[in-house]
Amino acid sequence: MAKFDNSFTDELRQRLSLVDVISRRVPLVKKGQNYWGCCPFHNEKTPSFSVSEEKGFYHCFGCGEHGDIISFVMKSENIDFKEAIKELADMAGLKMPEIKQKSAAQIESEENYIQITEQATKIYQDLLYKDSGKHALEYIKNRGFSDEMIKKYRIGYAPKNNIIASFFNNINRDKLTATGLVRIGDYGPYDFFRDKLMFPIFNAHGQVVAFSGRSLDGSEPKYINTTDTELFHKRQTIFGFNFARDAIHRNNRSIVVEGQIDAIQMQVHGFGETVAPLGTALTEDHIAILCKSNRNITFCFDGDNAGQKAALRACTLILPFLRETSDVKFAFVTGGKDPDEILKNSGEEAMRKIIDNATPLIDFLWDSVNKNYLVNTPGGRTQAEKYLKDCISKITDKIFQNEIEQEYNQRKFNQWHKWKQQKYTPIIEIPDVDIMTVNLIKSIVQTYPELAEKYMDFFVSLNISFDEESQKTELSLKDAEKFIISFKLQRYIKSLKDEKLKLLSNIPEDAGEDYRNKLKEIDENIIKANEKLELLLDINK
Ligand code: UTP
Ligand code: MN
Repeated sequence: MAKFDNSFTDELRQRLSLVDVISRRVPLVKKGQNYWGCCPFHNEKTPSFSVSEEKGFYHCFGCGEHGDIISFVMKSENIDFKEAIKELADMAGLKMPEIKQKSAAQIESEENYIQITEQATKIYQDLLYKDSGKHALEYIKNRGFSDEMIKKYRIGYAPKNNIIASFFNNINRDKLTATGLVRIGDYGPYDFFRDKLMFPIFNAHGQVVAFSGRSLDGSEPKYINTTDTELFHKRQTIFGFNFARDAIHRNNRSIVVEGQIDAIQMQVHGFGETVAPLGTALTEDHIAILCKSNRNITFCFDGDNAGQKAALRACTLILPFLRETSDVKFAFVTGGKDPDEILKNSGEEAMRKIIDNATPLIDFLWDSVNKNYLVNTPGGRTQAEKYLKDCISKITDKIFQNEIEQEYNQRKFNQWHKWKQQKYTPIIEIPDVDIMTVNLIKSIVQTYPELAEKYMDFFVSLNISFDEESQKTELSLKDAEKFIISFKLQRYIKSLKDEKLKLLSNIPEDAGEDYRNKLKEIDENIIKANEKLELLLDINK
């Protein structure tokens, strides 16, 4: 039978939430770990159909029907495997791959690949404890790695010569170059990793598929990694995931740090659920893989500017995966460069404090927007609002999306429009407003938040302090708005008259047509504004 590459069906399972897919047909309610609904495969009134997001399976306790995301689509829509894959691929926004049978040749080449990388790992491990690797061993010990850690993470040393190329001298060159360990140059094959401290990169089954090599002599780049191969895709590989998986389930969260040494040190210092991306910024694929286990992630970035930027990127990437039960947080390392340094210099407790004090996503996004835009100006607020709106639109659960939007609306009102105005310096000096008017405006703002929003710039220009509770107004919404508009008009007229007076009190010697036109324009504006005001007061009666 024609078969899809397992990696494609795996990717579908990774990308799509079983609960989301089933919810399209059956309303589900969360109870405990699982979701429950009425079984779509037999007639029932009380829910006995259970769905486990974590395990990726559904099971009906009434009729015994069970399966995974693919069989659900097949059975519920009565379509075959291929059609179900097509439909799921559409949902996930993925292109269908060519249907391919894994050929015997391909299986063999994958086996060859793993045999070579496994053998290379052993060679590197050995050399770390030989004379040629002395400086590497000294280096890694200095970085706080015990023999036990070195063994567990299979850390090794790639010597200065072409050890891999010569060891595999007798095998087919293509097989060797396919692993990325050896390249062909003008003078024949040579090793990609030379004089490097070697960190094997494992796949989910714990097999070595690639390496990351750290330079030992201070040369740049600091790390080089195997370039992508048939079995290693950097954008889909998470460093330390094979070691962290159990802890991620047990602790019901994962921690993401920036570097691989950080991930290792975290794992051995009580944060077994820690992983890191590899030589690249975090990708959507990384997030999808982590969200498969659970949607509780604490991102821990370096405290510098780059860390802030990386965090905001992670934040926007994870928005589509958010559910109301997700616990996503952002921690920043302060008092040291990265988690490795914190653990080394200040210990586990200091690190735990940083993780425990992480900022929830909602607050992190709000803080970032407030930092990145000048929210004490209308223009800055507009940009900030657009950014927030764009972020909110990425949340796929509509009810949750709406809830978040309300939350931010509340914050906008409380923090931007109510508190921030003290910082705003109006361009034109505005004469004082009498106390009666001030009180009326305050009570209108208190009673009708929608008016406060609409006329926020005007209120801000009045320089009134709105930071304490005031009484509600008896005016209706309509009358309140009329009052605001008429007051606004009166102030506008007054400012025009002031401007005219100023012009008249200081007539320039060469006053010509321009000057007269300016006066004329002011007069016309005063007349227009007066007409508007009269109209408004007329209707008011
Ligand atoms: P950092 O520059 O923060 O390094 O890069 P680090 O992890 O603290 O490294 P040490 O502690 O000095 O050994 C973070 C991660 O970015 C990738 C590596 O995966 C690294 O762990 N990186 C960095 C590269 O792939 N290449 C580089 O040249 C630098
Ligand atoms: Mn470091």
